[in-house]
Amino acid sequence: GAIVHSIADPAEVGLEASYEYFPDGLLVVSGSHIQAVGHAADLLPTLPAGTDITHCPDALIMPGFIDTHIHYPQTGMIASYGEQLLDWLNQYTFPAEREFADPAHAAEVSERFLNELLRNGTTTALVFGTVHPSSVEAFFSAAEARNLRMICGKVLMDRNAPDYLLDNADSGYTESRALIERWHGKGRLHYAVTPRFAPTSTPEQLARAGQLLQEYDGLYMHTHLSENPKEIDWVKALFPESKNYLDAYDQFNLLTERSVFAHGVHLCDDECKRLAETGSAIAFCPTSNLFLGSGLFNLPQAERHGVNVGLGTDVGAGTSFSILHSLNEAYKVMQLQGAKLHPFKSLYLATLGGARALRLEHHIGSFAPGHDADFVVLDFNATPLLSYRMQHTKTLEEQLFVLMTLGDDRTVKSTIAAGQVVHQRDAATATENV
Ligand code: GUN
Ligand code: FE
Repeated sequence: GAIVHSIADPAEVGLEASYEYFPDGLLVVSGSHIQAVGHAADLLPTLPAGTDITHCPDALIMPGFIDTHIHYPQTGMIASYGEQLLDWLNQYTFPAEREFADPAHAAEVSERFLNELLRNGTTTALVFGTVHPSSVEAFFSAAEARNLRMICGKVLMDRNAPDYLLDNADSGYTESRALIERWHGKGRLHYAVTPRFAPTSTPEQLARAGQLLQEYDGLYMHTHLSENPKEIDWVKALFPESKNYLDAYDQFNLLTERSVFAHGVHLCDDECKRLAETGSAIAFCPTSNLFLGSGLFNLPQAERHGVNVGLGTDVGAGTSFSILHSLNEAYKVMQLQGAKLHPFKSLYLATLGGARALRLEHHIGSFAPGHDADFVVLDFNATPLLSYRMQHTKTLEEQLFVLMTLGDDRTVKSTIAAGQVVHQRDAATATENV
């Protein structure tokens, strides 16, 4: 079939050098890994006799999508009406997260959440749990059973939230350690130290989070940053000695190459500079930023400073699990700022850019021998309108743009993770109809 993958950031190498395209291509998979990618005419003669071949006409094969910021416990409260960040947290989010004290609930939502990710073509995500260690236990167990590459962590939160959701500096540290020992580096799973955001952690807790990052190799740090003006004022009041919001984390050594900050909608140049210096990344979450009225992420500013950026859905503040839908909204966020989001940049953000933000570019995000066989097949005929519109496309970039603008979960024909089909749209539809 037709195969496309991003091989570099268009901001660094220009649009044309940022991708590879094989209109009549072959992706060779052996077990759970990619063996080769190229033109079918070149690769077909190299295949051993009896190799299984799948044809994908009227479709585009590309690496699985990467969601660099999402909350699995918020699956059931997506589309909650009427509030901006701080009231939304109090009114909807905290009560929903309370339910995860029950391990059976956590197990059920984990399955539902992974089904939804895979239906949407997302094969790797950086995921918030709740404050309950059992929420992370349930999530990792479910991800392990499907052999997915996933990153998750227990929320650290020891102030400014309801009592029923608080840990303390000591218990948060000890519980995180136990989860790290059990899950970090097991199969394709990785652990993220996860302070919710600066307002809900005491300085003592942030210091213990920094300590964890020192004590283990390869840990992620996952939190929120500069999303909403009232939140930013609150951080100023709580951390009067900090130069800016980011500095409240920096003082506790939380800026590393594996640190991912969701949002960063209202950053100053000093904060961008510091993110770039430390190799930290921002998760750009367009559907969430629009839904909560948080603001417009300034991607050109981040690019100018050389900050790594991935894409996040931020469900439940985000309104869709679909990375295609997020790209559709990202385009509009850029338009409102008088800028353009080229489809090759979008492809990069959804795949290789996300992999780089997560320091996983040697495993996922593009097709190279030895990479994980995590990919999607996007169907040009998924809906009548998409099919009709695709007939009038002439170039790859036009096809990509139409897929990103009209596409959603229906566009994802199949999702393959570690060489196994983990979602097949026709099969899912057939089951749903029964
Ligand atoms: N800031 C702190 N917690 C949250 C959360 O759950 N969602 C979003 N969007 N922002 C946050
Ligand atoms: Fe979030």
